[in-house]
Amino acid sequence: MPSGTKEAEKKIEALREEIRRHEHLYYVLDQPEISDPEFDKLMQQLQQLEAEHPVLITPDSPTQRVGGKPREGFVKVRHSSPMLSLDNTYNEEELRAWERRVHELSGRKDVDYVCELKLDGMSLSLGYSGGQLERGITRGDGTVGEDVTLNVRTVRSVPLSVAKEKLKKAGIPADFEVRGELLMPIASFKRMNDEREAKGLSVFANPRNATAGTVRQLESKVTAQRRLDYFAYMLLQNGRTYFDRHSKTMDALEAAGFKVNPHRKLVHSMEEVWAFIRQWEAKRETLPYEIDGIVVKVDRTALQDELGFTGKAPRWAIAYKYAARAGITQLEDIRVQVGRTGKLTPVAMLAPVAIGGTTVRNATLHNMDEIERLGVKIGDWVQVERGGDVIPKVAKVIDDKDHPRGTRGFHMPQKCPECGTPVVRTEGEVDYRCVNANCPAKLRETILHFASRGVMNIEGMGDALVNQLTEHGLVKNVADIYGLKKDDLLRLERFADKSAQNIIDEIENSKQLPLERVIFGLGIRMVGERTAQFLAEHFGSMEALEKASVEELQDVGEVGPKIAESIAEFFSIEANQELVKRLRKAGLTMRGEKKERGTKLAGKTFVLTGTLAKYSRDEAKKLIEDAGGKVTGSVSKKTDYVVAGTDAGSKLDKARELGVAVIDEGEMERLAG
Ligand code: IVH
Repeated sequence: MPSGTKEAEKKIEALREEIRRHEHLYYVLDQPEISDPEFDKLMQQLQQLEAEHPVLITPDSPTQRVGGKPREGFVKVRHSSPMLSLDNTYNEEELRAWERRVHELSGRKDVDYVCELKLDGMSLSLGYSGGQLERGITRGDGTVGEDVTLNVRTVRSVPLSVAKEKLKKAGIPADFEVRGELLMPIASFKRMNDEREAKGLSVFANPRNATAGTVRQLESKVTAQRRLDYFAYMLLQNGRTYFDRHSKTMDALEAAGFKVNPHRKLVHSMEEVWAFIRQWEAKRETLPYEIDGIVVKVDRTALQDELGFTGKAPRWAIAYKYAARAGITQLEDIRVQVGRTGKLTPVAMLAPVAIGGTTVRNATLHNMDEIERLGVKIGDWVQVERGGDVIPKVAKVIDDKDHPRGTRGFHMPQKCPECGTPVVRTEGEVDYRCVNANCPAKLRETILHFASRGVMNIEGMGDALVNQLTEHGLVKNVADIYGLKKDDLLRLERFADKSAQNIIDEIENSKQLPLERVIFGLGIRMVGERTAQFLAEHFGSMEALEKASVEELQDVGEVGPKIAESIAEFFSIEANQELVKRLRKAGLTMRGEKKERGTKLAGKTFVLTGTLAKYSRDEAKKLIEDAGGKVTGSVSKKTDYVVAGTDAGSKLDKARELGVAVIDEGEMERLAG
């Protein structure tokens, strides 16, 4: 080893230990000791050192959570022992019947139980060998699951390694398996759906579906952004429960650094179980994730073994499911709400009904397709359901002799209910939209987006200020931001001279930001950060972009017909043209550096599959795009070339089937010049 490397190694290991400790404090214990920027600084130091000494990078380094190449699909893996599900009970009587059976089969009455929350996610097995995380496997059908290791590694509450001493202290062997629940906290779920909606993508129905969708993503980078969480609840060795009591397992997992749900209780009677169930039914709304019931487990492993299994579920554990919080009421009217992207959402106006402790007056009907699926009419009696923190929804129409059907059908309005602009429904899409940038309903959200960090970065212009600015009529569109005076701000609540000046300075500074930020800030539907960048590079000025036709727009890498139409439509509206004019006059950056992408591959569409030897996915994509080509995700008749590496999968078969040219990476390089 070269001199100096030894020292670097020491430094790197010390930094890693420190980062792991802070990860544990933040993601597992929820008790950070340092600020986010301080944590980021440690990470940067480690990245820097590792970049200088790449030989010292180990797979369990905190820098290595995201990585590896995107996959074609997931490999199937057999579980060490079946991953079981649970039988459900819905009332006290059924729960007592379960207890009786436990007493009968075990021949004893003094049974200890552990009560836990029934987390509403998906179960996942983690395999550790020599203390290192080797594999993450989904439940699958219980016998065979899918290897989702690369995605699981991005979950910050999953330790990539557990130090030998720590395992020893916790009494856990070096080779072991942890099972537990992977879930998406409600806040992450909402943020993800908001982002998807803004991009015109379909939204997930609930956090459980979102978790499953996220862990089966092919790109671990995407999983990393979605902030999943993991709670451990089983410890196995060679497929068998390791400790002699479940309560010990939970404590040992916690001691080893796994996230174990703190809301658990070792109890000695059904009375205590019942109290736990009641307690959490009232408190479930306060949790940052969804639960759908309580799990009761027999504490002693020997007794668990004695009780055994029936079919797919153990006899030693039972789920008590909380009733879906629902109520029946009459639907009095359907109104239409307009969101930031202009999406029109039909909302049911209900006769007030109490559900799970709150009075519900309206519920979402999502879109026109949903209204048709439900067959709902105004005047109907409907069943309304409410999930954890999620907006109430109309679940079904009640149709019996006590509940006469309504008669008035609903149609989407032809004009935006807020501003009167004709609404648009793009062919093949579910949603109707208002495309007027100045629509007051869209205003607040549009301004927040414009001012946010990744866009025009106007620090201090958050919820509170934007509320005041719009309420006082000081800001009616994003261009008005640039007409604000210090005096305007001083007249608002909670503004002193200094804070008002800060905001004015921030606004002034934002004018320096590059063209792509301004394009992104306009909030054009389907134009995210990356597309905005491509547009800026291709057209080099706002003016050229404004004038571009749908066809010309599609010359830009990544811009397909749908995005092109959305952009052209945006600039065809007079109010939007006026807006851009004012931004120009205010002095925002309207020109950028035109980056000539090559033309050798202009008009050619590529699909990448398998593992390439010389390039990562992103690098290959860049090579093609820089030469003017386009890379898409799936093979169709329109694909010109499929670039196949090793382990190419179904895309290669599809290419052969359709007669699309299949090339290797050498050929790709040659074509790109
Ligand atoms: S124990 C054999 N504990 O509920 C033991 N499961 O409906 C089975 N779940 O597949 C797992 N919270 O995904 C257990 N505290 C908890 C749980 C839990 C949620 C899930 C798990 C299981 C499903 C069965």
